[in-house]
Amino acid sequence: MRGPTVLLTCLINSWTAFTVVQAHIGTAPGKTPEVQTLPSLREQARLLDRWTEERKALIPGLLRKYGVDAWLMSQREYAEDTVFWALKEATQFSARRRTTHLFLADPVGGAPSSYSWVENTKAVWTELRQILATQQPRSIALNTHSEIAFSGGLHAGELDAVIIGVGDEWKNRFVLEPMLGVELVATMVKSRLPWYQKLMETSWAIIEEAFVSVIVLSIDGLKKGEYDRATRDIEWWMREKIQFLNYTTWFQPSVFILTGKGFPAADDPSVSMDDPRAPDRPVEYGDLIHTDFGVSALGLNTDTQHIGYVLYPGETEADVPKGMIEGLKKVNRLQDIVKSNMKIGMTGNEILKASREQMRSEGIQGKIYCHATGEWGHSAGTVIGMTNLQDEVPVLGDLPLLKNTYYSIELFAEHFVPERNRTIVFPQEEDVYWDEATNSWEWVYGRQEELLLIRTPAIDREEAPTEL
Ligand SMILES: *[C@@H]1O[C@H](CO)[C@@H](O)[C@H](O)[C@H]1NC(C)=O
Ligand SMILES: *[C@@H]1O[C@H](CO)[C@@H](O)[C@H](O)[C@H]1NC(C)=O
Repeated sequence: MRGPTVLLTCLINSWTAFTVVQAHIGTAPGKTPEVQTLPSLREQARLLDRWTEERKALIPGLLRKYGVDAWLMSQREYAEDTVFWALKEATQFSARRRTTHLFLADPVGGAPSSYSWVENTKAVWTELRQILATQQPRSIALNTHSEIAFSGGLHAGELDAVIIGVGDEWKNRFVLEPMLGVELVATMVKSRLPWYQKLMETSWAIIEEAFVSVIVLSIDGLKKGEYDRATRDIEWWMREKIQFLNYTTWFQPSVFILTGKGFPAADDPSVSMDDPRAPDRPVEYGDLIHTDFGVSALGLNTDTQHIGYVLYPGETEADVPKGMIEGLKKVNRLQDIVKSNMKIGMTGNEILKASREQMRSEGIQGKIYCHATGEWGHSAGTVIGMTNLQDEVPVLGDLPLLKNTYYSIELFAEHFVPERNRTIVFPQEEDVYWDEATNSWEWVYGRQEELLLIRTPAIDREEAPTEL
């Protein structure tokens, strides 16, 4: 932990102060997350292409599952279908010219089940019509859904081109089967999991370092009048750290003070949903702080929310307000409720209803807003609630829950903390994967069961040991 602290002190020039931080206690039983470095770009491409081939091989079976004979995708450079990204080779950075894919459920005469063209002449349509004439598919799926991004990626202009391109004979066989795009993008082949776990461990490690080291720096700076927007500073520190590790991300990290004026997903009219990252005020002793943080690499994305508590100088674990420890326990219980209701084949809305009933019967107040993750941060698959939709989510909430996917269990519980004489929101977000061996959802890395404690020894800048 020390090495990176020095390095980031250099990266962010204004943070010249440093101090010593006691080793923290892990926030999940038996876990000490460490940053995982990525392999060379060439090795990454090899990994990615292997995963893509594995997934592409599932397409004929998927077409048969949904009773569709053929699936046609077409796009122009920079106007890609959403599914394009799940099919591309690692060294492809966009579609080129007109890029067209055709997949067949049951090719006759020993023909291949998949075809791709990168063309700027009418040859693509001539060849496509020849294949259709031989194969005689009764139905040809197009990604034209009006609400679901993963099955609605065919651009309007490209649809016109496809209709003209295939001609009258075939356009009457076009069908919409939204689950094709959803299930293809959602399916996480097993070989991706070990790297997803490494990404998740990295994500935890960055959160812990941001909370444990950086907050101490910013409090130190605050005392000296150097910072007035500390939460925002931590967010940008996280971005720099991601870049330093050669990862990227899919959303701006947020750091939020839960003991401040409120949490944006709660019904607190004083907090704007327009800018949920708006810093409340600089981090101080006694604050309960929260982050929503994710990393991206190798075509995978993580989504995590954790909570930390800033001890006053000299305080120990025993000094953490008991109400805050109970709040975390309560949201852990809510995670268990939702996870146990996530039955394969049930719709997101059914899972939401069952979870909310159980929540009410156990006297838990809060909100549930879980989503698929992995391939995209908010990935293909049913959603289980949204912050503003706690009864049902139209369209997306009616899709069935699929196995072999990753989900983000995202929610919060409200808890009255007597030591602060107020109700505080305890948000958590942790990713799970479907484990076929146990027929259940398992945490990708773990889950937070203890508050991340930020110890702030009162050491003056000048007294900091020079070994740093
Ligand atoms: C990031 O990439 C650079 C350039 O390839 C490499 O030198 C460096 O070691 C990488 N850093 C990490 C933490 O993997
Ligand atoms: C706790 O808060 C309530 C309502 O905000 C207030 O009426 C009450 O006086 C507070 N109690 C204490 C001990 O501060």
